[in-house]
Amino acid sequence: MISIVGSGKVGSAIAFLCVSNSLDDVLLVNRTKDKAIGKALDISNAIPENSNVSIHGTDDFSKITGSDIVVITASTGIYLKSRTELMDAQVKMIQEIANQIKKYCPFAIVLIVSNPLDVLTFVFQKETQLSRNKVIGIASSLDSSRFRYLLSEKFRIKQSQIIDALVLGEHGDSMVPIFSRVKINEKNILEIIDEAEKQTISTEIRDYWKSLRILGSRSQFGIAKNTFDVIRTIIKNDELIIPASIVLNGEYGEKDISMGIPIKINKAGVKEIIEIKLNESESNLLKISAQTIRDYIKSL
Ligand code: LAC
Repeated sequence: MISIVGSGKVGSAIAFLCVSNSLDDVLLVNRTKDKAIGKALDISNAIPENSNVSIHGTDDFSKITGSDIVVITASTGIYLKSRTELMDAQVKMIQEIANQIKKYCPFAIVLIVSNPLDVLTFVFQKETQLSRNKVIGIASSLDSSRFRYLLSEKFRIKQSQIIDALVLGEHGDSMVPIFSRVKINEKNILEIIDEAEKQTISTEIRDYWKSLRILGSRSQFGIAKNTFDVIRTIIKNDELIIPASIVLNGEYGEKDISMGIPIKINKAGVKEIIEIKLNESESNLLKISAQTIRDYIKSL
């Protein structure tokens, strides 16, 4: 069973993708019971005719008992200027959820989507003491999909023509687009893009969520699909290499933080942490990003 904590835009979009693809039974958990039940009633009509999966809604955490995967999308409010705006309330919330998961499904793989993503991923893993390989923060793959999209728009090409467009580090203003590895039609992007263009694209990736707000929208489908891809990989016993936030223990020279780095995921969670070659500038920017996350954690 897949339990999704938070049945707002993101949680319900993830639930929709899971049941419409007949991945597994889904339980939507929300502090407002009717909101969870209402979404479940609607999404249940997306279950294919020949499917064996179900979807239900509840405000009773005990019903997550036996979940294989728990996805945390809950939020205590709407942030306007920065993903860290609600940090104290979000940390308190994630600690409460951590205690429920420790109690009812301590063997689950937990995917964290709530912001501030890296801080919450770190706090959750420390609070539950779950293996760090079972606690994955989903965000850098979203940032990377934005990187790919922006490059495809700039060069007027298909996204399939863009290889290795990775964004690592904080899911926040210090995130690091890794230009040095990007290939466009087999050509290294650094041969066809100048520093000013790199800065422009980097800013557009960082502020993507603000652009959505300015247009009266909010992040929903991109993060939902990136989270669904991880859920599907785990349930289908497949393998997937993406950047995602995981508690570090020396990788990339960092420890005691959670940060977006390339990982290989399989049915058991994180199978491998992948250390890739970065140029000097990218390494320095990643250190700054790590320190940004560390400073937030220290401020708690
Ligand atoms: C965003 C949210 C998911 O980047 O943090 O849109």
